[in-house]
Amino acid sequence: MIQSDKVKKILFGGDYNPEQWDESVWKEDMRLFKLAHVDVVTLNVFSWAALQPDENTYDFARLDKIMDLVAENGLKVCMATSTAAHPAWMARKYPDVLRTEHTGMRRKFGSRHNSCPNSPTYRKYAAALAGKLAERYRDRDNIVAWHISNEYGGECYCENCEKAFRVWLKEKYGTLEELNRAWDTAFWGHTFYDWEEIVAPNLQSEEFYWEGMVRTNFQGISLDYRRFNSDSILACYCLEQEAVKKYTPDIPVTTNLMGFYKPLDYHKWARSMDFVSWDNYPKYGAAPEAVAMAHDLMRGMKQGMPFALMEQTPSVTNWHEYCALKRPGEMRMWSYQAMAHGADTVMFFQMRRSIGACEKYHGALIDHAGHENTRVFREMAALGAELEKLGGAVLGGRTGAKAAIVMDWDNWWAAEYSAGPSKLIDYMEELMVYYRAFYRSNIPVDVISVEDDLSGYGLVAAPMLYMCKDGFDGKVRRFVEEGGSFVTSYFSGYVEDHDLVVTGGYPGRLRDILGIWVEESDAPPEGKGNCFVYGGKEHPARVICDLLHLEGAEALSAYGEDFYAGMPAVTVNKCKKGKAYYVATRSDDAFYTEFLGDICREAGIRPLLDAPEGVEAALRENADGAFLFLINHGEEPKEVVLPWAGAELLTDVRYQAGEKVVLQKKDVAILCTQREKKL
Ligand code: GLA
Ligand code: ZN
Repeated sequence: MIQSDKVKKILFGGDYNPEQWDESVWKEDMRLFKLAHVDVVTLNVFSWAALQPDENTYDFARLDKIMDLVAENGLKVCMATSTAAHPAWMARKYPDVLRTEHTGMRRKFGSRHNSCPNSPTYRKYAAALAGKLAERYRDRDNIVAWHISNEYGGECYCENCEKAFRVWLKEKYGTLEELNRAWDTAFWGHTFYDWEEIVAPNLQSEEFYWEGMVRTNFQGISLDYRRFNSDSILACYCLEQEAVKKYTPDIPVTTNLMGFYKPLDYHKWARSMDFVSWDNYPKYGAAPEAVAMAHDLMRGMKQGMPFALMEQTPSVTNWHEYCALKRPGEMRMWSYQAMAHGADTVMFFQMRRSIGACEKYHGALIDHAGHENTRVFREMAALGAELEKLGGAVLGGRTGAKAAIVMDWDNWWAAEYSAGPSKLIDYMEELMVYYRAFYRSNIPVDVISVEDDLSGYGLVAAPMLYMCKDGFDGKVRRFVEEGGSFVTSYFSGYVEDHDLVVTGGYPGRLRDILGIWVEESDAPPEGKGNCFVYGGKEHPARVICDLLHLEGAEALSAYGEDFYAGMPAVTVNKCKKGKAYYVATRSDDAFYTEFLGDICREAGIRPLLDAPEGVEAALRENADGAFLFLINHGEEPKEVVLPWAGAELLTDVRYQAGEKVVLQKKDVAILCTQREKKL
C-alpha cells in the first residue's frame, strides 16, 4: 500500500492540475486545500507535451515549482508519469504511436489513452519519461506513490500489434500444429501454414456486430487476442514501473484500475502492481451492492490487501448521460463505503474544475466560482475534517470473509464470445445475483480469482464458470472433499482454456464433483421461462434451463412446467466432507437469498448482524481492533441493534451490545471494539 511510514491516516485529496492555471491561482488553491483538509494530490497526470516539447528536450521547470509549492504546503504527492496521452509532435513524427481501431480505422492525433501498446516509439519514450521523473524527484520525501499512466485500457489492431500478436502466439503455442489444434482451425478451413497468415481478429477479419454485441467466428482466436491485448498494455505498465524503480525502489507503484473493466485481465495485472488503486464512478441511482462488489473485486486483486480509492467525483460526472448531483451526504456515504470495503485513501477527480475541453463541467472541490462557499466544498471539507479525526483507525484493516465469489476474466471473455446458447448470457449479472444475496444478508464476501487459495473459505461460489481452466477443477475437488461448500450454475464447465469443449458430457471437468450430467439446455426468450419451488416458494427459471440427470447428486428442487417438468433444477452432491451445489437456471433474488442463506447456515457462516433493509454492514479488522461500518443507503432514518459494545468513531458515543444506533439517511457509523484504551 501507499508508504506506511509516511502515512498515518486515510489520505484525502486527488487529481490536481495546476499546469492548467496561472501561478497566481496556485496560492489560492493551497489556501482552499488547507480549509478542506486535503493532504494528498495526484500530480502530473497529463503533462507529457509540457515536459517533453520535442524529441530531445525535457523541461521540468514548471513541475519543479509545483513540487516545491505542494511540499511547502505539507502535501503528499501521488506522482503520475503523464504517459496516458502522447504529445502531438510524437504522433506526427512517429505515426506508429497511433492506434488502429476495431474497425481497422487508423487514428490521427487526438483524445487520450491513444497510444499503441506495441509501438516501439511509445514504449521507448514512455519509459524514458517515467525514468527521468523518478531520477529528478527521487529525493522528494513527500512522494507516497507512483501513478503510472492513467486508466490503461482500450485495444489496438495496427500492424505492429499484429506482428507482436504472432510473436506472442509463437511463445504460447511453439508450433503452428499446436495453434491449429487449440483454435480448432479445421472448422471452416482455417488451417494456418505460416505464422504470417495470422491476422488480428477485428471487424476486418473474424469479428462482427450482432444485436449490438461484438461476436466472433473463432472464439479461440478472439480470446487469445483479448489476452494478448491485455498483456501488451501490461508490458507498457511494467516498463514504466521498472524505470521508476531504478531510482526509487522503495516508493510503491500503482496505476488506477476501473473495477469490472472487461478489456484488461486485472488479476494478471495486480501481480505486477505494488498495490491496487481504482476509480469509482457509479451512475446516479446505482445499486449500492454493485459498487460494493466492485470494491470487493479490487480488494481481492491482492488477496485482501487494502487498496486506494484513487478517484471518485465530488459531485457530478460530466460523461454520464445525466449529470445528476450527488445528493447531500452522498459523496461522504460512498467514501465510507469504499473504506468499509478496503480503501485506505479517499481521493477525487478533481481538485479544481478546468475551464476548457470536455471535463470543464465535471465535479471538483473548487468550482468555477473559485471560492469555498459552495455546498460541494463544504461537504468535502467536513469529510476531510472527519478523516483527520479518524487518524490511522482503520488503516490496513482486513475483511476476513468466509464466503467467496470466483471471478475470472478469461471466463468473462469466453462466455460472452460464445455463439449461443442465449443472448441473455451475462457473466457480470450472474455474479451480481449471487453477490446481492450475500450483500443483503450482511455476509462479507471476497471476490477472488481462480488462482487464489480456497482453503480459508467455507463457501465458494463460481457462477457461470463456462471455462473451467486447467487445475481449477482439482482445486475445487480438494476444497469440497475437505469440507467446503461449492456452488456453481448453468453454463459451467463447458470448455477448457482454449475454449475447446470438454467432451464426455457437460459440465465437463466439474461433472464428478457436482454428480450430474447436463444433457441439454433450453434458452427461453427474455421474460419467458420455467419455474421451480425452493423453501416452499415458487421461483422463476430464466435465461437457461438445463435438462440434467443425477449421477450421485440429489435434487433439491425440480422444474414445474413444460416437457422437462420434474427434472432437477437445483442439486447437491456430497463429496467426502463437503458439498457441491448446482443451480441449473437463473432465478430471482428471493431464491438466491434463501438458498445461499441455507448453505451459509450449514457451513457456519454467519451474517455480521441483522440490519434493516437498506443498511449495509461491513467489517475491517487490524491490530487495533475491529471496525464495523454501518451505512444507511436509504432515504429514511434506520435503527440498528448493535451486536457488540464499542465506541462509535465519528460521534465518540459509546454503545453497549444490544443498544440501538440511529442512522439518519445516507449516514454512516463506525463501531470500534477492542480498542477502548486508545480512545
Ligand atoms: C477518469 C480519468 C480522469 C477523469 C475522470 C472523469 O477516471 O482517470 O482523468 O477523466 O475519469 O470522470
Ligand atoms: Zn497497435
